[in-house]
Amino acid sequence: MKDTELIKQKIDIVDLIGEYVQLKPAGINHKGLCPFHQEKSPSFMANRERQSWHCFGCNKGGDVFSFVQEIEGMDFVEALKMLAQKAGIQLTNTFEDKESSSQKNRIKDINAKATAFYHHVLLNTEASKDARAYLETRGLTKDTIVDWQIGFIPDQWDLLTTYLLKKGYSIDDLVASGLTIKKDGATAGSSKGFYDRFRGRIMFPIWDVHGNVVGFTGRVLVETEKSGGKYVNTPQTPVYDKSRVVFGLNKAKQEIRKKDVVVMVEGQMDVIACHQAGMKNVVATSGTALTSEQIVLLKRYATNVNMAFDADEAGVKAAKRGIDIAVEQGMRVRVIEIPDGAGKDPDECLKKNPEVWFQAVEKASPMMDWYFSRTFAGKNLSDPQVKQQIVDILLPEITRIPYAVERDHWLQQLASRIGVDTNILREDIKRVEKKTSPPPMASAQAPTQPSSSTIKKAVSREEQLFERYLMAVLVSGEGESLLHVQDHRFPQFQTFALFPLYEKLKVQYTSVRSLQTDSFREFFEKQDEENPLDILIMKAHLELDDLEAKDMKKEAEETLFGLHETLRQARLKSLELALRQAEAEKNQESMQDILREVQDLNTM
Ligand code: UTP
Ligand code: MN
Repeated sequence: MKDTELIKQKIDIVDLIGEYVQLKPAGINHKGLCPFHQEKSPSFMANRERQSWHCFGCNKGGDVFSFVQEIEGMDFVEALKMLAQKAGIQLTNTFEDKESSSQKNRIKDINAKATAFYHHVLLNTEASKDARAYLETRGLTKDTIVDWQIGFIPDQWDLLTTYLLKKGYSIDDLVASGLTIKKDGATAGSSKGFYDRFRGRIMFPIWDVHGNVVGFTGRVLVETEKSGGKYVNTPQTPVYDKSRVVFGLNKAKQEIRKKDVVVMVEGQMDVIACHQAGMKNVVATSGTALTSEQIVLLKRYATNVNMAFDADEAGVKAAKRGIDIAVEQGMRVRVIEIPDGAGKDPDECLKKNPEVWFQAVEKASPMMDWYFSRTFAGKNLSDPQVKQQIVDILLPEITRIPYAVERDHWLQQLASRIGVDTNILREDIKRVEKKTSPPPMASAQAPTQPSSSTIKKAVSREEQLFERYLMAVLVSGEGESLLHVQDHRFPQFQTFALFPLYEKLKVQYTSVRSLQTDSFREFFEKQDEENPLDILIMKAHLELDDLEAKDMKKEAEETLFGLHETLRQARLKSLELALRQAEAEKNQESMQDILREVQDLNTM
């Protein structure tokens, strides 16, 4: 058996996806919020038997491999290896040749070597005396420095580049790793014209969740006019995507899972100081607002996130987008507030009084409480305009909450504090929704990857009806109506993308009086593409699952009736035109034929 087949057998797709997404059983499928686009109602499906998944919002889908590729940002070989390990399978093809030749792996290698180099330089060289002293003033212990592999690079042009070239790495790979910068006009193949990105900086390795060093952040030791930003990060490289990495997650993930809380802070130093103080569920982004990719990653470990961010206007604004996404994705967001005078960030607060920081994290207020108290603070509630302003601020925040009961709770809170009926607010929600977010299903119409998949081509109203009819047949398992489809009467049927499926079903039902799509599933299989039959079945459950079995049968019959009607009307229209033409031409024979068909259609 092929490795991929073996893995598919061993790995339960629902369990695997369940590690990333909360899934609930829905008929023969499992349903949840899609991790690949933002949505409020679930259109993401996984099917255990068929080992497939599909999202009807963004039209992504596939098998375990494509899921891991998408969610982990891996290529196929990486996903294969990860899943093989999970399944406890020895791969027959280990891709070793490809492995050592892949630039991604060479860059990871370079990063590992650079980490060791920086760390060694910090601990063992005279040139790092000031850096060591600085880290001591910041309160970092030797253990912490070793644990986080903190390093230093003196302020010279090409120490690291020269070192790595001597180790045999190519200049092209060094540039690709982001550690080396090419001067304008320099040519590859020689070290001249190349210099280190990081100079005169304390170096913090950035690990991915699996523990590979994917990049670095460097803090300037002595700030001068020429030293550039206080922090410099690795740019986007084949292994570093700042929107996917969460700093400290490799060290924090166990504790995060145990506590079901992520503590999110702003800076690398804050993360390290927290861990050193014994709070180990702490992570940070690298100088960006939280992205949806990072939230997907975090949601694998916890549903609660307590965030510490600069509470000034700019800080809130910077954090807002990330908070919004986290709330929309169903995370419970709380705000950590460091009391006035207790320090400007967690690191400072810990230094002044660790107890205060631990308390602040413990007492973090739910996002909505925080929004409410900020928005109501100092407002004159006897002024109707002020009331409206408050509603305009808070209503969008409330509508963002994906949990109906909670949403309603806050709606009632707002109503009672403003002194209006909740129904008034509900009316206002409609106005807010029109203004801010597109309706959930609008994303389905967003441009998606063109695909040759037959189902996505279902466009005409007739074809849509046919699709819906077949879905109802599949879900109900009732094949009787297949025998009543008037495909001989309406040639359009044969142009429908799903006609071959209908034919298969009809033949099967005629001979064995039951419907078993598995027996001809392969018939629809295409290389490197989702099986359209799987998509259809999942879609069927998504759209029709709320119907009872007998209603489903009725749904099938009614849809088929509607389809016949539509086709009949269209046919009558064209016959009417043809008849006029025939009359004009005084073509008796043709007129006879047409009239016969009209009569036929009318007595259907
Ligand atoms: P801060 O300016 O608050 O620095 O930036 P800090 O974390 O308190 O650093 P220390 O304590 O002075 O050493 C917060 C975070 O924003 C990112 C870094 O990730 C930093 O930790 N940042 C800041 C940058 O990426 N570039 C910068 O120039 C500044
Ligand atoms: Mn700081």
